[in-house]
Amino acid sequence: MSKAAEDLATVQMLGLKLPTDPRWVNLAEMDLADILTDHAYCEQKATTTCITLIQKYPEQIEMVRALAPIVTEEWGHFRMVLRELEKRGLELGIQRRDEYVNQLLKFQKKGGSRMDQLVERLLTAALIEARSCERFRLLSLHIKEDELKEFYHKFMVSEAGHYVLFIDLAKKYGDEAKVKARWKEYLAHEAQILKDMELRGDRMH
Ligand SMILES: [Fe+2]
Ligand SMILES: [Fe+2]
Repeated sequence: MSKAAEDLATVQMLGLKLPTDPRWVNLAEMDLADILTDHAYCEQKATTTCITLIQKYPEQIEMVRALAPIVTEEWGHFRMVLRELEKRGLELGIQRRDEYVNQLLKFQKKGGSRMDQLVERLLTAALIEARSCERFRLLSLHIKEDELKEFYHKFMVSEAGHYVLFIDLAKKYGDEAKVKARWKEYLAHEAQILKDMELRGDRMH
């Protein structure tokens, strides 16, 4: 299978409706300080999301048990990115406005039951993991430096696991058929968000 075909297969496995423009990797590697900074804050936000879910739904003990180690893992990712910056003599920059995540948050259905809200949050998290996984895969395959290929490959594998976990949790806490239907809406909407967004090499999304 060619690399392009493999990339497409991964995208399809994740369910994503729009493969990332391959030019994105070239743009990203032109400014490592910016892409690594943005990546670091993605990991921080992933950590925060897991902590918030635990704080808001402490009685869902199975989810708490599943997410507690993910908090550690995501924060470990933040530290990995920080080390990579330092190794290269680059600085962690300031956090930018996350247009992609903000747009996804706007798509969350307000109202409904507390558990409906949980499902919305879990699907949003799953989607961000899926897209991150797809982009890490592109970096791991196409970035020029071998060391960075390996670096990004680790994230790809890890975020793929998180994607599966969040989808499984959403199905556990919501009606499976409804969750599947809603997931399709999320996927379609996410493709539209990316289509409308400028392709930038200094952003993970
Ligand atoms: Fe992560
Ligand atoms: Fe993750």
